[in-house]
Amino acid sequence: MAKRKVTIIGAGHVGSHVALSLTFGDAADEIVLVDKDSRKAAAQALDIFDAVSFAQHGTAVRGGDYSDVEDSDVVVISIGMARKPGQDRVQMLDDSIVMCDELLDSLKPYKFPGIMISITNPCDVIAAYLRRGLGLDSRRSWGTGTLLDTARLLRVLSANTGVARSSIQGFTLGEHGESSMIPFSLVRIGGVPYCDFGLDDDEILKEVRAGGWDIVNYKLCTEFGIGRACASMVEAILRDEHKVFPASVSLDGEYGERDVQIGVPCVIGADGIEKIIEVSMTDEEKSEFHNSCDVVRKNTSAAISKGKRGVQ
Ligand code: LAC
Repeated sequence: MAKRKVTIIGAGHVGSHVALSLTFGDAADEIVLVDKDSRKAAAQALDIFDAVSFAQHGTAVRGGDYSDVEDSDVVVISIGMARKPGQDRVQMLDDSIVMCDELLDSLKPYKFPGIMISITNPCDVIAAYLRRGLGLDSRRSWGTGTLLDTARLLRVLSANTGVARSSIQGFTLGEHGESSMIPFSLVRIGGVPYCDFGLDDDEILKEVRAGGWDIVNYKLCTEFGIGRACASMVEAILRDEHKVFPASVSLDGEYGERDVQIGVPCVIGADGIEKIIEVSMTDEEKSEFHNSCDVVRKNTSAAISKGKRGVQ
């Protein structure tokens, strides 16, 4: 049976937690950590490999190099600086584009048949920049997008209603950022429409968006939530689960939008994005979603103008 291999480029807080999280399950047979600082990648890998002594599945974990993408089923991109307290994700763009251009140079010599999942912020913009720069299929390369924001929505709604997260259905969509939106008309809590709970939409949205800030402002990074979120997408690919996740994908007419990479519900399995789901929204929700698309489209144009590798 072919080895299920995952290469994670960027062995910092986020990338190392994607790796650790994957070792708790049995989806991956081999995890390779790659970083500009190869000794850091090797040390992170060895540290995680120690933890495998207590895992059910003997996942191999090692440091590697950019050539490891050539036989990887999934490549995760988690390069970039940690967000600073009070820093908006879009303010990370300049540094991220410099690091993405270096990454494009490092990956240029290698063929890359697998699926790419990008985490680096500003997530939607960087996922689009790397997909275009590497010439990847839009159904085989996407960003984690509002998957983490959706996890935060479930946390906040559970805290406000006392209902278990596993019994709450709903999404945060749009930008993984300050223009994200929640189609509350779709949210069901134990099968009951969200609107029957008398909660304040603006308060809920504010708490969901604040999730990243509350963490970064006190511990100078986020790592556990995003690590598990990305790992769950990787597992859905490796196990061919056909699971529905919000993911930052390139739209080509869906939701009446094109030429934008944005968080929408998708079916994810071995073939990558198997279907983009067009959920119904109220007129007000549609307007919030389109606004978010415009924000990301504008920031993506800014990223392309800053890039130095001719990415279009
Ligand atoms: C956060 C980072 C991943 O929201 O953007 O925690």
